[in-house]
Amino acid sequence: MTKKITIAIDGYSSCGKSTMAKDLAREIGYIYIDSGAMYRAVTLYCIEKGLFNGKEIDNDKLKEEIDHIHISFTLDPSTGRPRTQLNGTDVEDRIRTMEVSSRVSIIAAIDFVRTALVALQQEMGQAKGIVMDGRDIGTTVFPDAELKIFVTASAEIRAERRYKELQEKGENANFDEILANVKERDHIDETRAVSPLRRAEDALLLDNSHLTIVEQKTWLIEQYHKATQA
Ligand code: DC
Repeated sequence: MTKKITIAIDGYSSCGKSTMAKDLAREIGYIYIDSGAMYRAVTLYCIEKGLFNGKEIDNDKLKEEIDHIHISFTLDPSTGRPRTQLNGTDVEDRIRTMEVSSRVSIIAAIDFVRTALVALQQEMGQAKGIVMDGRDIGTTVFPDAELKIFVTASAEIRAERRYKELQEKGENANFDEILANVKERDHIDETRAVSPLRRAEDALLLDNSHLTIVEQKTWLIEQYHKATQA
């Protein structure tokens, strides 16, 4: 039997990490965990409980309540994809709104939130056989992961992909605004005091600026086989 390993996929926003991690997990029969969804679920909780005052968060109240925020995942039988649950309620769609997206980086920068979520992520990965994607998986959550991948693509290419996605959804899109937003998020992720986004020394670099989905998948499976045979 092939040995079960832990796969950590980190990288910049909008470079297709989640899709890549989900597809890989399905292909090799591993559990997939989207750690960003967990930060989004805490953000939604704060919005719904009125803990935000504009962009300010009531830190003391959140600290009091953090132990009462329970996040889990269920598998959607029709798509085979995970759905995020917050205190037993399905919030998968609500955590993807602009309202959550525009506030999540505030929540992701709070040290006690990160401590709680990292502990939960480590518990989820105890049995290995897991693909987790995020920003600090290879550095903080699973520093001993057997396979670490750091994904990147140029800011222009990522902005172009998001621009096309929005256009396909029929939403208004302005390329320059999107590019500025991509660059701003990179800056926030890289300069955050707690667990900033950085490539783990032993992470393989995957620049997918000029790769097709098929080329990328082939490369990933190859790395998985190498890691399980090592
Ligand atoms: O990947 P995403 O866009 O769903 O992530 C949402 C936010 O959470 C984003 O601001 C980065 C942050 N995040 C993080 O700080 N650490 C992680 N492991 C995953 C996401």
